[in-house]
Amino acid sequence: MNGFRALGGAFAALCLIGTAGIASAQDANFGRSVWLSQANCADCHGWLGDGINEDPRSPKGADLRVTVLDAAQLAEVILCGRPGTGMPHFDPRAYTDDRCYGLTAAAIGDAIPPAGAQELTARHARGLAAFILAEFVGKGAPTRQECVALLGPDSQTCNKYPSAP
Ligand code: HEC
Repeated sequence: MNGFRALGGAFAALCLIGTAGIASAQDANFGRSVWLSQANCADCHGWLGDGINEDPRSPKGADLRVTVLDAAQLAEVILCGRPGTGMPHFDPRAYTDDRCYGLTAAAIGDAIPPAGAQELTARHARGLAAFILAEFVGKGAPTRQECVALLGPDSQTCNKYPSAP
């Protein structure tokens, strides 16, 4: 009877893991579409997230492939930016109240990060975080194949990445 119960528990746990996996795969797919079409992250971070700015007039972003942040922390940086740096905030209401790091515009003064070029919601940020974790983190330096998988075979951008052996 106990063994039976334990089995039931294990099954329930497996189901939970299964649903969480599907949810984050959906988030990552949505995040990919935001990365590709709704946000200008690549201007500073590069299309492959390696921190090499695609737009020479934009600052160099952080290398997202080596970030140590978890999903919640990634989403927070995306919505709130990073005070005192060039990482913009994409929540238009950031620093109007204390939703970002407990800080308001008055408290933060000159260190307030720039506003992003677009408005992103918590759902966008969660998607981008799942996408960054699924596709970039721990994957090493970007390859041409990886770039083509993301941007398509006709992208000139991909020629700058070395082919995988
Ligand atoms: C105008 C340039 C710029 C744009 C646009 C930009 N970033 Fe950044 N981002 C930066 C810079 C610069 C940093 C490094 C901040 C620092 O020094 O800590 C950064 C840091 C980050 C970090 C923190 C990484 C870490 O490990 O600490 C994340 C996550 C991030 N950016 C994600 C994004 C996403 C997603 C987008 C698009 C929605 C985006 N950024 C758009 C410039 C930019």
